[in-house]
Amino acid sequence: MRKWEFDFYMSSIVSHKKIFFITSKTFFRIFLHYRSLKKALQITKINVINVTKNQFRKVALTLTNSVIIKDQRIIACWLYFMAILVGLMIIIGGITRLTGSGLSMVEWRPLIGTLPPLNDDEWIRVFELYKKSPEYAQLNFGMGMDEFKKIFFWEYFHRLWGRLLGVFYIFPLIYFFLQKTIPSKYRLPLIGLGIVGGLQGIIGWWMVTSGLSHEPTVSQYRLAIHLFIALSIFTCLLWLGHSLFLGDSKIQFGIPTFVFGLIFLTIIAGAFVAGMNAGLLYNHFPLMGDGFIPVEYGEKGLLDPFENPASAQFHHRWLALIATCGVLFLWKSAIKAKIAVKQATLMLVIVSGQFILGILTLINAAPVHLGAMHQTGAILLLASSISVIHSLYRVSE
Ligand code: HEM
Repeated sequence: MRKWEFDFYMSSIVSHKKIFFITSKTFFRIFLHYRSLKKALQITKINVINVTKNQFRKVALTLTNSVIIKDQRIIACWLYFMAILVGLMIIIGGITRLTGSGLSMVEWRPLIGTLPPLNDDEWIRVFELYKKSPEYAQLNFGMGMDEFKKIFFWEYFHRLWGRLLGVFYIFPLIYFFLQKTIPSKYRLPLIGLGIVGGLQGIIGWWMVTSGLSHEPTVSQYRLAIHLFIALSIFTCLLWLGHSLFLGDSKIQFGIPTFVFGLIFLTIIAGAFVAGMNAGLLYNHFPLMGDGFIPVEYGEKGLLDPFENPASAQFHHRWLALIATCGVLFLWKSAIKAKIAVKQATLMLVIVSGQFILGILTLINAAPVHLGAMHQTGAILLLASSISVIHSLYRVSE
């Protein structure tokens, strides 16, 4: 704020010989946007010096509210943008796994690793490191440099995308904090999301290390944790974005939350299918072998859902069916209540497509393109369910 603006503002207050009753927050907003306030007063043909206390307060509050709404929407758009980046990150992660690229970078260099190998010497160095890994020895023995570069690309791109995400999150966050435009109740969640995002990078590396020591396979537990955190970040970004753009919504226990939980659970079950390459067995539907239940079911006792590929696939397919029925039920309730009809219809279309895509992925033994599309479908389904639940609980507030 310039000095003349400040003097002008003070003189208008002094001219009333009274200090206005305005909350400190409102005062601050007026302070920041004084120039627009002055313009608004001029447009409404109110004499700026002789303005009455009520006129001043009315215009100031209207303007303040519209400025706050505008500020909130800018933050919401940034959160939507971040959600898109996170969604793409999850898809890139899926492609990295499906193309067998996940274990090609055997070192973790958060800062220097931003640049790819830039000369032949550097390529030879990273390839030599890879040659010492169990994946090279057991699965890719004799692989040439050209092939190595291909698998290296996806893992490198996945990590680079993660760094980009960090930059696109941290700098705008600092900017919004300096501008003091983030409503107080959102400040802590937004900082928390940034911290969890940073931790996710470390967890990603922790996941990769599980495939670097003995067996060239990533732990399915760590894969599921990594996916769980990514989806939680995605969910929070969208939820906060909707709250800032469309208005607050309160999570309640009820059928919509239950259906959301089912979708989330189906997705995590999918991570166990993917993590154990369980899409390579029982490639038909709905039977698994001669019956609905695979013969191996229960062989691993309590750990069966997490360590027995056949059981993981069994759980994923039937959880998916229950989740699909849940979505159908939610859609019917939305139609009946005439609330969030469009969102619920979109969600029903997505879940149906996703179910069919799951079957296609399975009967074709999880090729890269179908696996990646199935992963994309899961993200779209999650996004649509968040939108439905947010509007249901917003409307019913
Ligand atoms: C609500 C419906 C469904 C959702 C939300 C869903 C979600 C997912 C997700 C997120 C993954 C990948 C996890 C990862 O890559 O980490 C996955 C994997 C998989 N899903 Fe589904 N799924 C659904 C339905 C189905 C159905 C009905 C089938 C087959 C009957 C199926 C078969 C598979 C297979 C074979 C994989 C492993 C693919 C791979 O190795 O990449 N899914 N699912």
